[in-house]
Amino acid sequence: MQEPLRVVTSHVQLLQRRYEGKLGSDADESISYAVEGARRMQTLISDLLVYSRVGTGSKELAPADCVASFDVAVANLQEAIRESGARVTRDPLPTVMAHASQLTQLLQNLIGNAIKFRSEKPPLVHVSAAREEDEWVFSVRDNGIGIDPQYQDRVFGIFQRLQSGGKHPGTGVGLAICKKVVERHGGRMWVESESGQGATFYFTIPRTGVDHRER
Ligand SMILES: Nc1ncnc2c1ncn2[C@@H]1O[C@H](COP(=O)(O)OP(=O)(O)OP(=O)(O)O)[C@@H](O)[C@H]1O
Ligand SMILES: [Mg+2]
Repeated sequence: MQEPLRVVTSHVQLLQRRYEGKLGSDADESISYAVEGARRMQTLISDLLVYSRVGTGSKELAPADCVASFDVAVANLQEAIRESGARVTRDPLPTVMAHASQLTQLLQNLIGNAIKFRSEKPPLVHVSAAREEDEWVFSVRDNGIGIDPQYQDRVFGIFQRLQSGGKHPGTGVGLAICKKVVERHGGRMWVESESGQGATFYFTIPRTGVDHRER
């Protein structure tokens, strides 16, 4: 999929470089739409590939320290955290049986969303984990714009976005990846929110024989 698209992209870009200003403004406009469309298509395809590859590796689950994953996720988001003035905090988090890199991706997508969909208030994001009989229930809570209850299932679908336009860039693949990661680990995922009241995303990870020390 990517190779033919690369051909299209490079040739429309070539047309743009060579003929911009020479074919009239209608042609310039059409070419720039084609360049932009090809660029968007490239992003969609690469996101789709990331989504389709979740969990295809053969690596076994291993004890994964959620604090380490949290720390890496926060480090990867430091630019967004700095720009928004967000405060990202956590309770003690356990060690669970998981793919550590997928756990990091999960937390990073959720914390990243919490910052991206902020309200006018400075973003506060809090991660915690509650121990239940058979599973850990993780939550990522924010004080952002929230999600109307009627859309709360939809947001986990691939390419489903409630806002469009430049203020909240993205393709709508983040939560679909999160849900797939969680389900691959034998857990469930859902959100609780009201419009304008912030959102709390929950996911569960089954408890197994691993050392569950929290830190
Ligand atoms: N914390 C949140 N608060 C409010 N709305 C949210 C939050 N997280 C997700 N959403 C809504 O759910 C939609 C889907 O989220 P998702 O992470 O899948 O996509 P995205 O962030 O728009 O794009 P991408 O993750 O691909 O960059 C978002 O577009 C947004 O409308
Ligand atoms: Mg996202």
